[in-house]
Parts: sequence; C-alpha cells; structure tokens
Amino acid sequence: MPLLPFKPLTFFVYRSLKLCGPNAVDDLVARSARNNRAAGVTGLLVHDPVHFLQFLEGPMEAVGAAVLRIAASDLHTDMTNLACEPTDMRLFSDWSLRAAALDGRGSAIADLADSLDISDPQGCILRLRSYALQVA
Ligand SMILES: Cc1cc2nc3c(=O)[nH]c(=O)nc-3n(C[C@H](O)[C@H](O)[C@H](O)COP(=O)(O)O)c2cc1C
Repeated sequence: MPLLPFKPLTFFVYRSLKLCGPNAVDDLVARSARNNRAAGVTGLLVHDPVHFLQFLEGPMEAVGAAVLRIAASDLHTDMTNLACEPTDMRLFSDWSLRAAALDGRGSAIADLADSLDISDPQGCILRLRSYALQVA
C-alpha cells in the first residue's frame, strides 16, 4: 500500500502590543475566525489590556498567509515571535479562533513571555502549550 505523504501542521505563537479597544477586538476575532475557517487554521487569541498573545495551527502555507495578514494590521505593533514549529496535533481543533480576555491582568502576558528561556526552545513550547490550555 502506498504511504500517504505526511504533511505536518505548523504551530506558531507570537505576542504583540495592542493598539485598539474591546470593540475592535470583537470585530477582528470575527473576521479572523472567518478567514481561519476557510483556510483550515485553528487557534487561540489571548489578550490583556496591553497585549495580544496568539496561538495558530494549521497547514504551513495557511498559517504563513494568516501571519502576513496579522503582521499587516495596524491594530497592534511590536510582534514578537515566540514559537514556530511543526506539530502533528492540534490543541484548538474545535476553534477557528477562540478569544480569551485576561481583564485586569495587564502583566500576565508580559510575565509569560519574559519567563520563556529562548535557549531552550522545547521548554518554551511546552510552557506555551500548557499556558494555552490553562487559559483557553
Ligand atoms: C491580534 C490580531 C490577530 C489576528 N488574527 C488573525 C487570524 O487568526 N487569521 C487571519 O486571517 N487574520 C488575523 N488577523 C488579521 C485580521 O483579520 C485583519 O487585520 C482584519 O481582518 C482586517 O482586515 P481588513 O483590513 O481586510 O478589513 C489578526 C489581526 C490582529 C491584529
């Protein structure tokens, strides 16, 4: 029997600084979820009053296209890539884009990002995955 080609998914995480208020966030989540549904991308957008932290997963080309749209948006700035790696399972398979607001905890995302040890990429991924499952 011929083997099916193995197509790994891409798992991508970044954080950025918010330049918009709650109404704009609702709107962008609705639009982004529509794009993601059409492209086979799933994910989680965590936000506190100051930051966005977004987890995306899907076929590499589709995640890449979403990242270009995200980077072009003037609703945020200072995008910092925290993880980008192949994966074979989705964490958010039920959500085109789930949103989680961390109201009143403006330091939560900064604390998480600061606590990542970039010399240990696998440790970063594990920490990001467990954080995502905790807040989702
Ligand atoms: C924090 C943030 C998260 C976003 N997430 C996604 C996403 O998951 N998928 C996507 O296709 N676009 C995403 N975008 C891009 C927005 O969907 C895009 O800026 C919005 O649809 C505006 O598009 P328009 O300029 O075509 O109206 C994101 C943008 C921001 C600022």
